[in-house]
Amino acid sequence: MKVINKENIYILGIESSCDDTSASIIHNGKVLSNITETQVDHEKYGGVVPELASRQHNTHIAVVVKEALDKANVTTNELSAIAVTAGPGLMGSLLVGVSFAKSLAFGLQIPIIGVHHMHAHILAHFLQERQPEFPFICLTVSGGHTQLVKVKAYNDMSVLGSTIDDAAGEAFDKTGKMMGLPYPAGPIIDRMAEKGKPAIAFSKSKMDGYDFSFSGFKTSVLYYLQAEVKKDPNYIEHNINDLCASIQHGIIAMLTEKLIKVVNDTGIKRVAIAGGVSANKGLRSELQRLASLNDWELFIPDFQYCTDNAAMIGISGYFKYLDGIFDDQQLVANPRFQF
Ligand code: KG4
Ligand code: ZN
Repeated sequence: MKVINKENIYILGIESSCDDTSASIIHNGKVLSNITETQVDHEKYGGVVPELASRQHNTHIAVVVKEALDKANVTTNELSAIAVTAGPGLMGSLLVGVSFAKSLAFGLQIPIIGVHHMHAHILAHFLQERQPEFPFICLTVSGGHTQLVKVKAYNDMSVLGSTIDDAAGEAFDKTGKMMGLPYPAGPIIDRMAEKGKPAIAFSKSKMDGYDFSFSGFKTSVLYYLQAEVKKDPNYIEHNINDLCASIQHGIIAMLTEKLIKVVNDTGIKRVAIAGGVSANKGLRSELQRLASLNDWELFIPDFQYCTDNAAMIGISGYFKYLDGIFDDQQLVANPRFQF
């Protein structure tokens, strides 16, 4: 095994947990390249088809890794370690990344580092120029997870609250699907909401503590649409902007209510957001409003680091490398990887 050198660290990060095949080279904590191949075939099925996803990862992974190395002008021999998403995610998709990473690490005789996908979304903040100090509170909102996390150090975080059913991204995607929008509906709702007014008050869940629930909200949207479409078959088409603004407003209100509660209870006023839904313009501006109102220090990642990417996996691997946390060839893909 290559000698561990903490001076000049090159990490190859690999992400393949869902429908993005991504590879990145991180040098001493800085991004040299970040290449992502997004799969588009799922759109016509209204969601990610696991079997299709894993086949496409298999087609793309070697090409994407080579492109990341070439763009960074780094050779495989210079790599210090390979970091890969070990979970959570789709089993078939994770297996492609983990198997590829293990084989390459074995061939190069360098360490392999398994990364938790949700840790990585949070650590994406350390790819930014402006970085939060510890401890901070992170609201992580993606297509698969919704969590409030207390981040104490790079490799020390604990979940304070999470969703008991759908994730925030799913709430966007599924209500969008009800209105006939293609997958993923989140970014489309975001765009249409800008042109509408949040005139419709859908019912919001009342969960105790810091946990979230979006299923009641989703049902409320469904019943509302069914009733209106019965009266006017073109209702959705004519009111799409207001519907999007109202759905977005409702989801944001449920997220910020719990975030405010956590900040008030913990007294930690450093607040970050992470995950695909943190790209949402409505959420970003509402958080900016809350931050200036309540004197929070707010951290919002660049759009490129909100959705799935390998740079966040590479930087997570870098911090594990510095702390001496490694895996070995026994590393397995774990769809239900515990936080
Ligand atoms: O983090 P991510 O890229 O993948 C997962 O780990 O799940 O998140 C994808 C989710 C999808 O549900 C997508 O609709 C949502 O993020 N999303 C958005 C926006 N951009 C992506 N939701 C609302 N507004 C957006 N601008
Ligand atoms: Zn993600």
